[in-house]
Amino acid sequence: MILSIESSCDDSSIAVTDINSKQLVFHKKISQEIDHSVYGGVVPELAARLHAEALPKILEEASIYFNQLKAIAVTTHPGLSVTLTEGVVMAKALSIFLKIPLIGVNHLKGHIYSLFINKEAVFPMTILLVSGGHTQVIEAKSHDNMKIAMSTGDDSFGESFDKVSKMLHLGYPGGPIIEAMAKNGNANCFAFPVPLYNSNRLEFSYSGLKNAVKIKIDSIDELKENDVFNICASFQKTAISHVSHKLKQYFKTTKPQNFAIVGGASANMSLRTELEILAKNFLAPMFVADLNYCSDNAAMIGRCAIEEYKNNNFTDIHNLTIKTNAEGCL
Ligand code: KG4
Ligand code: ZN
Repeated sequence: MILSIESSCDDSSIAVTDINSKQLVFHKKISQEIDHSVYGGVVPELAARLHAEALPKILEEASIYFNQLKAIAVTTHPGLSVTLTEGVVMAKALSIFLKIPLIGVNHLKGHIYSLFINKEAVFPMTILLVSGGHTQVIEAKSHDNMKIAMSTGDDSFGESFDKVSKMLHLGYPGGPIIEAMAKNGNANCFAFPVPLYNSNRLEFSYSGLKNAVKIKIDSIDELKENDVFNICASFQKTAISHVSHKLKQYFKTTKPQNFAIVGGASANMSLRTELEILAKNFLAPMFVADLNYCSDNAAMIGRCAIEEYKNNNFTDIHNLTIKTNAEGCL
């Protein structure tokens, strides 16, 4: 079995996965969302302190598997340096104590493996990764051959939900809150411009949409509950139209064989529905992760680590470090 640790942002999580059967044996996550909500976003120092409290508690529960472990896996990048460090320090201590090797895992590659928890992996796969930090299209031909084909020039999809939620004083994380509010609103009430609609540029962009929403909010003298519902619905519709439109342009140049959506924001049901229609038009089956594994978790890190273990891809304790500047690496 492999014990995996995830602490790249605001979720403390540990999992134990069986190497041969790929079955998840143990999985626990303590989320810090409520602690950061008052600040409207993640406060790195607070996040690190909360990881230092939560990770040992979870580890204690996972300790019944210690004598069956063959390796320790940990997220090394990308993420917040102070929070990644919490996981890496714990992983190194375990590696010394149990005399087993270390596996450093790329968090984004981990998100891809959220699709394959308790399962065999499927490749080739064209993947839309929509999280708080990233909006990317990844062409994954195999575990060792993954390339970023498209990304955002500014804000990410999830980040735009977080920022709009903050503007409306609705709390953090914005994604699930905005999605719930949007259900009560009219998505055609405000015509926000779809970013880069008339451009062939294969790139995402969310800062313009975010500013358009800000201008609309500022123009309303006294925001009523109904205005908030309508803003959320109209914003969400435009944000999803942008992803869908850009993906359609991309699929015309590179037809997907299999298509998947991963990352925290892949839990959004309107996004899933719209992209399901798009994938169908291009005759590609669409894969999504179980809702339990869309946001950050150690189960996906452990599942990804099995592939590294099979490749003997271990990292020496002295070389296992967090990578703060790891954009574009897969
Ligand atoms: O993957 P994740 O847990 O953390 C990162 O690696 O960033 O993604 C968190 C992001 C947040 O920005 C959150 O607002 C967004 O995913 N999110 C959503 C939804 N659920 C989470 N965005 C839109 N709709 C949702 N239902
Ligand atoms: Zn993530």
